Amino acid sequence: MVDLLQARNVTLCLGERKLLDDINLTLSVGEVVALIGPNGAGKSTLLRVLTGFQLPDSGEVSLAGRALNDWSGEALSRKRAVMRQRSGMAFSWAVEDVIAMGRAPWPGKETKSVVREVMALTGCDTLAGRDFCQLSGGEQQRVQLARALTQLWFEGQPHGWLFLDEPTSALDLYHQQHILRLLRRLSLMGTLSVCVVLHDLNLAALWADRIVLLHEGRLVANGSPQEVLDETTLQHWYQADLRVFRHPEHPVPQVWLKQ
Ligand SMILES: Nc1ncnc2c1ncn2[C@@H]1O[C@H](COP(=O)(O)OP(=O)(O)OP(=O)(O)O)[C@@H](O)[C@H]1O
Ligand SMILES: [Mg+2]
Repeated sequence: MVDLLQARNVTLCLGERKLLDDINLTLSVGEVVALIGPNGAGKSTLLRVLTGFQLPDSGEVSLAGRALNDWSGEALSRKRAVMRQRSGMAFSWAVEDVIAMGRAPWPGKETKSVVREVMALTGCDTLAGRDFCQLSGGEQQRVQLARALTQLWFEGQPHGWLFLDEPTSALDLYHQQHILRLLRRLSLMGTLSVCVVLHDLNLAALWADRIVLLHEGRLVANGSPQEVLDETTLQHWYQADLRVFRHPEHPVPQVWLKQ
């Protein structure tokens, strides 16, 4: 009960349309869960509900056995952090000041040292002193990830639930690998749970413990990469012409599109 984030029978409607339809999902500390699904499936919407930014019409989300509603804003901010699909930041801030925003729930607590440590881990140290608005799309993504991670940092490591909406969509190959290796390594410390929306199924296969597939607001598959990234399942839910092979070096599936 203590280290679980649970969604029970979560439904969210927009007029007649169900954006989320009876979602049941549990996220445990120490695991990396990838949320996948076609455009418009409801991934970002589900992230908003799981993080308490959007109330469901019915059902409930609880953290450590208590409904999200019953948590104070500050206590919740110490437990879960979110990196959105679009940051929407349009004003001039130095990179380290954007990352330090993550320390808002921890007034006076080791801000400088935590920011320095997380900047080094995420490769943002090379961006120190730069204006956030002038960074490239991928550089901005790395800074937003660092801000979210900084929010969960205390006593030398991250604690709680980190929600990331397509954090690698603008990253080059080196940074995709660097960030996903980092998230995996941090989750293995046993105090962090990562829930990450990914369109790149091959990255999900390599780094997620579990994959959850959404389609038109419904959770249609939930299991290991081997279970969910099955050729028939993917062809059915994505309607794409594809093949699934085994990675040449790892026991995980890899998805190839046909021409
Ligand atoms: N505020 C809103 N008003 C109207 N429709 C909305 C709103 N928010 C979400 N939707 C609709 O809900 C559906 C799910 O949106 P959501 O952003 O969760 O999809 P997604 O799975 O994250 O897609 P993508 O892969 O493109 O990011 C979409 O059809 C979207 O148009
Ligand atoms: Mg989305």
